[in-house]
Amino acid sequence: MTATSVTASRSGARIERLPLARFTTLGVGGEAEVWFVGNHEQLAEALEQPYRVLGGGSNLVVADEGVPERVIRLTGPLAEADLTPDPELSDAETVVTGWVGGGVPLPGLIRKLQKLGLSNLEGTVGIPAQVGGAVWMNAGTRYGEMFGGLHTLEIVTPGGTRQVTPDELDWGYRRSGLSRGHVVSRVRLKLRRSDPEEVRARMDFADQARKGQPKMKTPGCAFKNPGGVSAGRLIDEAGLKGTRIGGALIAPEHGNFIVNLGGASSRDVHALLDLIRERVGVPLELEYELWPEQG
Ligand code: FAD
Ligand code: EPU
Repeated sequence: MTATSVTASRSGARIERLPLARFTTLGVGGEAEVWFVGNHEQLAEALEQPYRVLGGGSNLVVADEGVPERVIRLTGPLAEADLTPDPELSDAETVVTGWVGGGVPLPGLIRKLQKLGLSNLEGTVGIPAQVGGAVWMNAGTRYGEMFGGLHTLEIVTPGGTRQVTPDELDWGYRRSGLSRGHVVSRVRLKLRRSDPEEVRARMDFADQARKGQPKMKTPGCAFKNPGGVSAGRLIDEAGLKGTRIGGALIAPEHGNFIVNLGGASSRDVHALLDLIRERVGVPLELEYELWPEQG
């Protein structure tokens, strides 16, 4: 297949060989066969061969060589949100929504919820993820996380589709408890009725914490905070802010962000991650996901 060829799968998924750099916020990554799947039948077919799921690409460092597996991108109805309150599960205080596709961009969803006066997820403001990726990581800030607003998750694997509730999963800080290969196809949200202006005020407050974050191409924080200590602070104290390797830079604004100055390669980013691990005296767990995984 050439770089420009587009084909359709048996069930009608669009398949295109594309550079993944285009889909990542770091802007790095070679080619893969991207499957644009818009319904459960197409998703089931895509899972017949080795695959990876791509969300907003906002936590990924993809190799310059790309990846050999199919890369699944949720589109169509799997990227739409039905925020209508379920009359049987909602009451004067709580709203349980209809299905929200795993491919729905989180920032737009957060804005809609604010306008509707629906609270619980506004603390995730500024996270450039898709719903499925944000659930996978339990993305959040100290003002709220994805699992604070979930009622049901629909999970698809090669073995079939099932629904789970958050209390069935071992979720925690930047962790959903889902196994690799479990696709979050849709979720239903559990929200608290509030006043739109109050939700906006909490959103604005949470957004203030981002003022010191860099505005360049980046996958966000490289490492999880060990024991609640800011990894950024540790990297800063190790004197590493502003260190550059090739086209990648440890952001001068915040030590835990690696940014692409333009033309960065995955090797440049890996070299910076190795340098940080070597220089910071505390073991650090990677938050970025490396495609393919290392070691
Ligand atoms: P991707 O990066 O596309 O993928 C990440 C992982 O999720 C992969 O393993 C992928 O397979 C999996 N995945 C994606 N979609 C699905 C799906 N539908 N089903 C199952 N698995 C899936 N994170 C925070 O937690 N808090 C922050 O404050 C924060 N701030 C950020 C700020 C910036 C500027 C940036 C660039 C990133 C930030 N991040 C933050 C990191 C990132 O947004 C989160 O890790 C987010 O959860 C990644 O979601 P994604 O949809 O982009 O997933
Ligand atoms: N600090 C430094 N130097 C730095 C960076 C931070 O001294 O280079 C200090 C700050 O001055 C502050 C403290 O460390 O006193 C905490 O910093 P910050 O408020 O930036 O929070 P953080 O713990 O570094 C976490 C999340 C971010 C999230 C922010 C805001 C992790 C790994 N990071 O950063 O999440 O946006 O809080 O809530 O949990 C992400 O996960 O990708 C991410 C961006």
